[in-house]
Amino acid sequence: MRTRFTDLLGISVPVMQGGMSSVARAPLVAAVSEAGALGTLGAAVFAGDEAGLRAEIDAVRAATARPFAVNVPLFLGDLAWWLIEQLAAAGVTVVETAGRSPAPFVGALHDAGMLVVHKATRVRDVLSAQRAGADAVCLLGGEAAGHPGPEQVSSLVSGRLAADALDVPWLLGGGIADGAGLAAALALGADGVLVGTRFAATREASVHPAVHDRLIAASAADTVVVLGSVGDHARVLATDRARELAAAEAAGAAAAELHERYGDHLFRTVVTEGDLGAGVLACGQSVGLVGDVPTAAELVGRMVADARAAATRLAAAAAGA
Ligand SMILES: Cc1cc2nc3c(=O)[nH]c(=O)nc-3n(C[C@H](O)[C@H](O)[C@H](O)COP(=O)(O)O)c2cc1C
Repeated sequence: MRTRFTDLLGISVPVMQGGMSSVARAPLVAAVSEAGALGTLGAAVFAGDEAGLRAEIDAVRAATARPFAVNVPLFLGDLAWWLIEQLAAAGVTVVETAGRSPAPFVGALHDAGMLVVHKATRVRDVLSAQRAGADAVCLLGGEAAGHPGPEQVSSLVSGRLAADALDVPWLLGGGIADGAGLAAALALGADGVLVGTRFAATREASVHPAVHDRLIAASAADTVVVLGSVGDHARVLATDRARELAAAEAAGAAAAELHERYGDHLFRTVVTEGDLGAGVLACGQSVGLVGDVPTAAELVGRMVADARAAATRLAAAAAGA
């Protein structure tokens, strides 16, 4: 497949796997990139750990010679600058920035030879990232896992608005898990898609089998947005822990209690030990489309084949056939 995004990145499938802290480690990143899409290393977990970060980047490179990205959560402040220095020293060529305006960072990233793909949840924010010099942007609809933003406009509506407004190559994310979703995004005018939740349910993702079982069992309605009362909206799997957090929030609990219940510092325990009672798990509505745990290469291959089949259906409909 070929779009402005694949041309910009030198890849062959217009699919980017979004950075996922603890989940998207070297095995997943390398497998996605090796399949022709763009893998993204979740680097937040290595903030401050120079040797760990370098070893992880080296592990990706040992497994694939293809391009890959590294996620830089810009809200980390000084640690974001620290990460950028490390990535520059390691010769990383693509970053997925998110969480704050990339404007203060784009110059330094470009000086270090990196392409900037900035991810945001509102059309006005991706437009401002474009003005700041981002090489590509990703617009996330409200269906997305992680931080879908305060407005949570659906991908279908956001995507149409973005298509009319953006000049740089752009991806649509949030709710996309298969080839029909990829075809729909391309039909809207996107240059590709960004996918998180679906890649968490692949064999190379660094998650416990119990988490995979929960993702397969969950329906599209089994997510909940929490932490909106403290301005940090997060879409997570509706586990008992997440429901208790939502109830505490509705009862007016203070920010400190909410963050404690959220259990950010225990995310690794949730993911790697499968202890879904220890904290919450970022999860998008597309979890309802997860029915198995394929390899990343199988998933990417299916997405391409199914997108082509969808394009054939569109062409037949358009031709009145
Ligand atoms: C388990 C998990 C962890 C995530 N961690 C991060 C992260 O560390 N940084 C980030 O920018 N986005 C993170 N995300 C969000 C994804 O990169 C991506 O934006 C989102 O999943 C796309 O929506 P989708 O889940 O509907 O495909 C995470 C998502 C999941 C499912």
